[in-house]
Amino acid sequence: MGAAVSVQVLVPYWQHYHVVSVIDYGAGNLRNSRYLKNLGFKVLAVETPRHLKKISSMLVSSRIAALESCLISNCRLNADLVLLNFVLNIIDDKREREKIIRNIYLNLKPGGFFLVEVKEKNKNSSTKGMLEGELDNEIVHYGFEKELLLRRRGLLAVLYRKIIL
Ligand SMILES: C[S@@+](CC[C@H](N)C(=O)[O-])C[C@H]1O[C@@H](n2cnc3c(N)ncnc32)[C@H](O)[C@@H]1O
Repeated sequence: MGAAVSVQVLVPYWQHYHVVSVIDYGAGNLRNSRYLKNLGFKVLAVETPRHLKKISSMLVSSRIAALESCLISNCRLNADLVLLNFVLNIIDDKREREKIIRNIYLNLKPGGFFLVEVKEKNKNSSTKGMLEGELDNEIVHYGFEKELLLRRRGLLAVLYRKIIL
């Protein structure tokens, strides 16, 4: 599976801002991690311990560093960019989503980018997903400002930036 279109589209933008270090939070099968690593970014995949076991050989063959998600709250990685593609919309527990966003805030450098992508909720049907306003409500108050918005085929990607205090 190829990298998310949102990631592919935003690479030139991130390169313009000299983004080097990237955390792929909830990296799944590493489609985005591998794509960015091949372009020269320094990538760290963050995943649940159970999923990391599943992808261990893939991590070795693609030489991607990984961290168990339960350890990241103790880290301050000062990353330039965090990706969170299709993770928030699969987690029903609001507190669990809050924990993830807090971990991301703590591990981003001031001015760092935070890309969130979800399936967009369709107000007229019962499909699972999130609305732009719901994302903003859960994210902005930590100290992020919205930079860009991409919508495509029922998918919603928002690029936030950590406010420099
Ligand atoms: C739908 S997949 C998306 C994978 C990848 N981001 C992509 O776009 O292809 C969601 C991933 O989030 C991971 N995940 C779920 N809860 C997590 C958590 N609390 N911390 C880190 N990863 C988590 C799952 O293990 C799964 O691999």
